[in-house]
Amino acid sequence: MSPDLSTTFTDIRFENPFLLSSAPPTESESNILRAFEAGWGGVVTKTIGLHPVVNVAGPKTKFLRAHAGGPLSMNKGRDGVLHSSWNWELISDKPLDWWVPRLGRIKKAFPNRALIVSIMAGSGSDKELANWQALARACQEQGADGLELNLSCPHMDREDMGSNIGKDQKLCSRVTQVVKEVARVPVWAKLTPSTTDIVMEAGAVFAGGGDAVVSSNTYPSLPLIDADTLEFEMNVDGLVSPGGLGGPAILPQSLAKMAQMTRAFPEKAFSGIGGISEAFLEKNAHRGWKGLGDFRGLRRDRVVSHSQIRRPEDSGYHGGYEAYEGYAKPAEKR
Ligand SMILES: Cc1cc2nc3c(=O)[nH]c(=O)nc-3n(C[C@H](O)[C@H](O)[C@H](O)COP(=O)(O)O)c2cc1C
Repeated sequence: MSPDLSTTFTDIRFENPFLLSSAPPTESESNILRAFEAGWGGVVTKTIGLHPVVNVAGPKTKFLRAHAGGPLSMNKGRDGVLHSSWNWELISDKPLDWWVPRLGRIKKAFPNRALIVSIMAGSGSDKELANWQALARACQEQGADGLELNLSCPHMDREDMGSNIGKDQKLCSRVTQVVKEVARVPVWAKLTPSTTDIVMEAGAVFAGGGDAVVSSNTYPSLPLIDADTLEFEMNVDGLVSPGGLGGPAILPQSLAKMAQMTRAFPEKAFSGIGGISEAFLEKNAHRGWKGLGDFRGLRRDRVVSHSQIRRPEDSGYHGGYEAYEGYAKPAEKR
């Protein structure tokens, strides 16, 4: 008997908990249909806005690889070991009007797979906030099962958009609340990982009525400098602007963000992204896991504060609260 991986998350039923996140694999109707044919439980569409956007010239994303004896590089061939991806692709270059009929067709073709639509607008005025509502209404009318608010795009010039919203707790709450006013489907918020304490922004999303928090989007970063040419490995006319790092390199950071949030809000819903590959599950196939419950929240209780970790000489540990140590709170003293 094959394992039952079905689950319900924010009242949405998933045949399995594996979703494609918002990115090129979900940028078109044909890609999404192919993903469903391949068995994905759901997709989050490439982020949709009201207006067309134009990407930079040349490639928008590349993979960094480690090659024996050389520096990490994105331009030295595919034979190295994958380290990360680097991207400065904007949101979908197709506007809402292009997407609307396609969303309806996708949902009709695969009514039992989850179609989550990622949306993005500004936040600097009431008109901008109303744009979020226009996007939400149009997508849910086409049968979207849920909405994901992009509060995390790492390469925005505009101060009232993308990760600049995700860095501002008040805006996180406000945008979520505005969408919730019109939403008939669950609303997830995808936060930027680029803040001091993501628990604060997650709390702001929940205060605004959000049904789930999603993390991580890519980490703000620059491409590396080529050791031979001394140019950025990805550039247009020699110029580059901050983009986002994803892939295996961000898995430990994504795990840390998720642990921080799930510890702070154990009853709330979270969707995890960032450096995930099938290798972990494949390696554990022999364990005979029968369903999702067998590995949900794996080792969740093992993340504790530093002062709770055993010292080589237990008797020599003073709880970390003495003035000369001073790194733990009295409450955490053993
Ligand atoms: C080329 C590219 C385009 C992306 N576009 C979007 C987007 O439009 N909206 C969004 O919310 N995230 C976008 N992302 C972020 C991904 O959804 C994901 O959060 C990130 O890549 C981390 O996951 P990974 O390590 O599995 O790549 C994009 C990522 C890449 C690499």
